[in-house]
Amino acid sequence: TPVAAVIPAAGRGVRLGPGAPKALRTLNGTPMLIHAVRAMAASRAVSLVVVVAPPDGAAEVKSLLDAHALPERTDFLVVPGGESRQESVRLGLAALPPGHDIVLVHDAARPLVPVDTVDAVIEAVRDGAGAVVPALPLADTVKQVEPAAAPGGAEPVVATPDRSLLRAVQTPQGFDRATLERAHRTVTDDVTDDASMVEQLGERVVAVPGHEEAFKVTRPLDLVLAEAVLARRRL
Ligand code: CTP
Ligand code: MG
Repeated sequence: TPVAAVIPAAGRGVRLGPGAPKALRTLNGTPMLIHAVRAMAASRAVSLVVVVAPPDGAAEVKSLLDAHALPERTDFLVVPGGESRQESVRLGLAALPPGHDIVLVHDAARPLVPVDTVDAVIEAVRDGAGAVVPALPLADTVKQVEPAAAPGGAEPVVATPDRSLLRAVQTPQGFDRATLERAHRTVTDDVTDDASMVEQLGERVVAVPGHEEAFKVTRPLDLVLAEAVLARRRL
């Protein structure tokens, strides 16, 4: 089954601070988005990459992709994104041609995911899961809190969930295409990942081992880490 990857890259990157849209910021000289596209194209199963660009940046993204060689086997499309990540993914899905029955959804903000993780996700979808998430155990203990009485004030702690049963999830998340399309048609709540929409349908969602290097570039310190990981790979 040919696999397509949808890459939401339309976010501004507010938490990263002032500058270009996050996906266009460079890591060791190459835009984050190009690293992310290469990470998907590194899998031999992936034959199409759909990049969901900042709404006013589709032409710029298209020329970036034209300028950076991808493997011969990989086609790409660029579509403009939306207001939320969810809407951007939906716009990417709408652009998918027929024939790709497995779809990966991968954040441009996770540029360094290793190909073995990508392939493990694809394999688990082939094994029959409706949705597959790469996931890691948590290093920190997690507390549930109530909102503070005043902004910036102390928050009452109400619970400490058993950490051994919690996972931090990454991307690419992998899907049976029809299941993901149905989820995006049906679920209208605000969600922060695609697998949670499939969970709401009652379909089987499984976690496979994620990878440290699939971390999300969110805050300025993450840029430092990403550039250090890239530098180490070149050694
Ligand atoms: N994304 C998107 N369209 C949006 C918002 C987010 O395609 N309207 C994408 C981002 O480009 C990113 C991924 O969703 O690749 C994960 O989102 P996040 O890390 O939150 O990125 P941003 O929304 O850009 O960052 P911030 O929340 O700090 O503004
Ligand atoms: Mg965001």
